[in-house]
Amino acid sequence: MKILVTGGLGFIGSHTVVELQHQGFEVVVIDNLSNSSEDVLDGISAITGKEPIFENLDLRDKKKLNGFFEKYPDIRGVIHFAASKAVGESVEEPLLYYENNLGVLTYLLQELKQKGNGNFIFSSSCTVYGQADSMPITEAAPVKPAESPYGNTKQVGEEIIRDTCNVNPELKAIALRYFNPIGAHPSAKIGELPLGVPQNLVPYITQTAIGIREKLAVFGDDYPTPDGTCIRDYIHVVDVAKAHVIALQRLLEGNNATNYEVFNLGTGTGSSVLEVIKSFEKVSGKKLNYNIAPRREGDVIQAYADTKKANTVLGWKAESSLDEAMKSAWEWEQKVRS
Ligand SMILES: NC(=O)c1ccc[n+]([C@@H]2O[C@H](COP(=O)([O-])OP(=O)(O)OC[C@H]3O[C@@H](n4cnc5c(N)ncnc54)[C@H](O)[C@@H]3O)[C@@H](O)[C@H]2O)c1
Repeated sequence: MKILVTGGLGFIGSHTVVELQHQGFEVVVIDNLSNSSEDVLDGISAITGKEPIFENLDLRDKKKLNGFFEKYPDIRGVIHFAASKAVGESVEEPLLYYENNLGVLTYLLQELKQKGNGNFIFSSSCTVYGQADSMPITEAAPVKPAESPYGNTKQVGEEIIRDTCNVNPELKAIALRYFNPIGAHPSAKIGELPLGVPQNLVPYITQTAIGIREKLAVFGDDYPTPDGTCIRDYIHVVDVAKAHVIALQRLLEGNNATNYEVFNLGTGTGSSVLEVIKSFEKVSGKKLNYNIAPRREGDVIQAYADTKKANTVLGWKAESSLDEAMKSAWEWEQKVRS
């Protein structure tokens, strides 16, 4: 069965391609390499023994996207990862984000509508909750005004999919709200490869430890949390990838309760920035160079998932610990720089 994975050479996409192939799916990847490299194909095939079909295509090119669906009329499901994801850049270049994250989404949904059948998985984010009123965060928690154009594309993206599914019963979709995906494949053959200065904590830690960055700044140690640093729900990327395969199977087998569903993907456990650093130091045996810096604008104090819905309805549960995820991130960093 053929599945399209957009952004399939990126961080989460590449791990999902591996899990799809493990489950016997034939994968077609669309990626324009704007935030990834063709070498990822070698990493995937080194793990699974099979290279996915690869189409180097910019999804913003509506004509080419239409040509793609004509070339592959037997696509049975779409997992849509491709997006721009740098929060700061989205403030500087909102139109780029609205075009790439929302324009493209409408093109894909139009194609699926035209095909008359669509099983669609969307990469959403816990940013839709903003600073939630209570922890852990359930899917019923209200969506808060977005802090950035990037965050807004996830909120509006969900609304676009919901509204489209409402009036097109042949379209079925699941939005997965990721908390903080980290780590790399245990084989160290694929992982996260941020271009330029990392936006996220874990690649910043590993790049500091390997000597690319001088020092990690911990933004704020006076938050109302046990050690004063912000709390997030860090989840191993392989666990995130596996959830996509399960969500897709739910749609393919018609087990969905409604034709648009939302699930949190997290571990259910919050970890502070200092706890993540400690975990890194433990698994790597290295001391990390860091200092405490002032709070950063836009950071929520804490966010961790209530995972009951995903656990019971999807039958999926995150399996890896923070230490395992940090170990895999460190092994990947060393492999990339060797
Ligand atoms: N990584 C996270 O922490 C996180 C958290 C929540 C949600 N998400 C969402 O998950 C998805 C995947 O994130 P990721 O971390 O793997 O990002 P990534 O940048 O590693 O992967 C995205 C891939 O999409 C490709 N791409 C972007 N625009 C494209 C276009 N117009 N045409 C074709 N390909 C295009 C990029 O080249 C890249 O390979 C994104 O939608 C992101 O917003 C990520």
